[in-house]
Amino acid sequence: MSTGILLPTHKALVQEVYAEPLVVKTVPTPQPPPGAAIVRVLYAPIISYMRDVYNGTRKYPYPTPLVPGTSAIGRVAATGPDAVLLKVGDLVYFDCTVRGRDDSSAIMLMGITQGGGEGSKMLMEGEWRDCTYAEFVKAPLENLLRLDEKRLCGSPADGGLGYAPEQLTWVLQAMVPYGGLRSIGLQAGETVIVAPATGSFGSAAVVVALGMGARVIAMGRNPEALAQLKVLGPRVETVRITGDVEADVASLKRFGKIDAFFDISPPEAQNSTHFKSAILSLRNEARVCMMGGLLNDLPIPHQFVMRNDITLKGKWMYSRADCQALLNMVTTGVLDVREIAQVVETFKLEEWKKALDAAAEQGGRLGKMVIFTP
Ligand SMILES: NC(=O)c1ccc[n+]([C@@H]2O[C@H](COP(=O)([O-])OP(=O)(O)OC[C@H]3O[C@@H](n4cnc5c(N)ncnc54)[C@H](OP(=O)(O)O)[C@@H]3O)[C@@H](O)[C@H]2O)c1
Repeated sequence: MSTGILLPTHKALVQEVYAEPLVVKTVPTPQPPPGAAIVRVLYAPIISYMRDVYNGTRKYPYPTPLVPGTSAIGRVAATGPDAVLLKVGDLVYFDCTVRGRDDSSAIMLMGITQGGGEGSKMLMEGEWRDCTYAEFVKAPLENLLRLDEKRLCGSPADGGLGYAPEQLTWVLQAMVPYGGLRSIGLQAGETVIVAPATGSFGSAAVVVALGMGARVIAMGRNPEALAQLKVLGPRVETVRITGDVEADVASLKRFGKIDAFFDISPPEAQNSTHFKSAILSLRNEARVCMMGGLLNDLPIPHQFVMRNDITLKGKWMYSRADCQALLNMVTTGVLDVREIAQVVETFKLEEWKKALDAAAEQGGRLGKMVIFTP
């Protein structure tokens, strides 16, 4: 075990009772057991719909008391005895997606949701519950990805990319669509519809698909937000969701053969027509990735899917290999988001209410992030 300055207690945001207001508390700082490290949280992003998670609107299942949070950027403060790569002081990306070590089908998101099965519930009720809206977080070693700080944050004069470390929190938004687009084998030169493309994960999907070499048709309701995406480059086309399926299929088909459709609908888009129009515009043997968070069932254009050998693929989150591959794209500069990733507001833990409101109001657009600096 290597230990830096590990104070016996630290400050954390805590939800004592499900859906009740959060409180800032002083809590014990854990020592790192085997298989874990303690990370000093530096920049913890706030997802645009976090307010609806913690006020109970989204009905995400999680146990309380809970330290909320999500993936974050931090520095290793102490490691368990079996760490072989991570050292105290390393800048790391902490990924909140935890899998059972003896059953990888048990998946949950620390600080957010225990997911579906019994195994994931056990994981969250036990060792891996509390997340990053705190000064320190205890993280599984395999959830910490060491960042090449010199390359990512160093000055361009020294071969660095010049990212401010807080900009790297954007990786959280990119990991989700990367996992989804990779799961349907998106290839360079292919054309993919992203819809809705104007939210935080949706707009990140456009950026990531471009980085993977694809052409993107960004679909959404908001013409101004679509215009911002169009500026990303000549491989971006935009189509408005008008609610008229026939007209929207015609608009999509103007761009020729379409190989894939990436759906990232929020629950509010349950009755949106884009799901149907996007599928009906696909080529034979196209692939659909369903990553949206719809709460109710959706009608599928069954005959079209059957006659055209369409693959429908559900996807929750991403693998560790996806995480490393995406970070490699950023570190090598293949995916350059220096002009896109932008922290628009930072908050202290005590300001949690203002912070969750700000994330809901301005965190959902291309590259924009609201974060805690605990
Ligand atoms: N599978 C996974 O692993 C995974 C991971 C993370 C998130 N998700 C899901 O992905 C969802 C979307 O994420 P996000 O970050 O893009 O959300 P967001 O920032 O809240 O943006 C919501 C998007 O949905 C659009 N929208 C809202 N109501 C709509 C409607 N009635 N019809 C059509 N479009 C509508 C918005 O369009 P406007 O710009 O027009 O308002 C915007 O593009 C989340 O709510 C979550 O459930 C899934």
